[in-house]
Amino acid sequence: RRSRMHQLLSTTPHHDTLPENYVRPESERPRLSEVVTDSNIPVINLSSSDKNLIISQIANACENYGFFQVVNHGITEEMLREVMGIGMEFFRLPPEEKAKLYSDDPAKKMRLSTSFNVKKEKVHNWRDYLRLHCYPLEDFVPDWPAKPELFKEIMSTYCTQARQLGFRLFGYISESLGLEEDYIEKVLGKQEQHMAVNYYPQCPEPELTYGLPAHTDPNALTILLQDQQVTGLQVLKEGKWIAVDPVPWALTINIGDQLQALSNGRYRSVWHRAVVNSNKERMSIASFLCPCNSALICPPKKLTERSPAIYRSYTYDEYYKKFWSRNLDQEHCLELFK
Ligand code: SIN
Ligand code: FE2
Repeated sequence: RRSRMHQLLSTTPHHDTLPENYVRPESERPRLSEVVTDSNIPVINLSSSDKNLIISQIANACENYGFFQVVNHGITEEMLREVMGIGMEFFRLPPEEKAKLYSDDPAKKMRLSTSFNVKKEKVHNWRDYLRLHCYPLEDFVPDWPAKPELFKEIMSTYCTQARQLGFRLFGYISESLGLEEDYIEKVLGKQEQHMAVNYYPQCPEPELTYGLPAHTDPNALTILLQDQQVTGLQVLKEGKWIAVDPVPWALTINIGDQLQALSNGRYRSVWHRAVVNSNKERMSIASFLCPCNSALICPPKKLTERSPAIYRSYTYDEYYKKFWSRNLDQEHCLELFK
C-alpha cells in the first residue's frame, strides 16, 4: 500500500472514502454530534494591571480545566498571521521538496512526518506534521527547512516570543502554587523547546478517524496557535468532550504532564484531541516547553507536606523515552510513574 505520506503529499489528496488503515474501531470513534460546543474554557487577559487577578485566574484554569486561552499576550496579530502563513506555505511546497525532510524516527531533531508514531501504531491519524527542535536556536535553525524562503526567519522570531510568553506563564503558575516566581524555571533547567506545525487535510469521513486521538502532552507547558477559521481541538472534562474554539488571535495554553507531576496532581494535564472535517484543511502550531533532559521531576516540599508525592521522582529523559515508546492514546503516561 502507499504510505500516508505519499497519499497526502504527492498530489492534492482526494479520497471519497477513508483509507482502511485510518478507520477506528466503532468504540473509539469521535462521536462528533456529542461534543459540547459552548465551552467555558477560561480566557485570561494578560494585560490586566491586576497581577493577583491573573494569578488567581490561572490557578482556577489549571486546576479545573488544564487548558486556557490568553489574550493581550504580547505577540502581535501580524506576527501570528505571518507564522500561520509561512506554515501553510510549507505544506504547499511540491511533494519532492517535502519528501527530502521525511522521517518516522522520533529521535530526529528536524523531521516531517505523518500521523503520530507511524512505526508503533496500527491505525493512523489524519495529520502531517513538521517537528522542530528550537532551543538554542543557533544549534537547530541551520537545519530547518530552507524553503519557503522566509521560514527560518519567521519561525525563529516566533519561537523566541513564544518562549518569553511561556516563561512569563511559568512565573504566574509558580506563584499560583505558592512558590517563588522563578521556581518552575529553575527546576526545569535550561529548557528545551520543540515545535509541531500540524496540517490536517480535508478528510472524507471525519466520523471515523482523528487528526490526533486523545492524549496528554508529555512536556511542561504547550502554547498552541490555532487555525482562525477551522476548529478541531477538544478537551475532556467530566467525561465530555468540549470544543476549544479559538478566540481571535488568542493563544491556547495547556498544562503538560510535567506540571501535573510538579504540582503533585493539583494542576492537570488533561486529555485532548484534534478532530478533522470534510470541508476544510486545518492547521495548528504547537510550541512545547520541555524540561531539560537531566531535570529531576518531583514536587517541592511545600506541596507534599500534607499530601505525599503521587509520582516517584524521575528525570525528564526517562519520561520522554517512555512516552514515545507507547501509542499516543494509551493510559496516561504519568500512571506509569506512580
Ligand atoms: C495537539 O494536541 O498537539 C494539537 C491539537 C490541535 O491541533 O489543535
Ligand atoms: Fe497535545
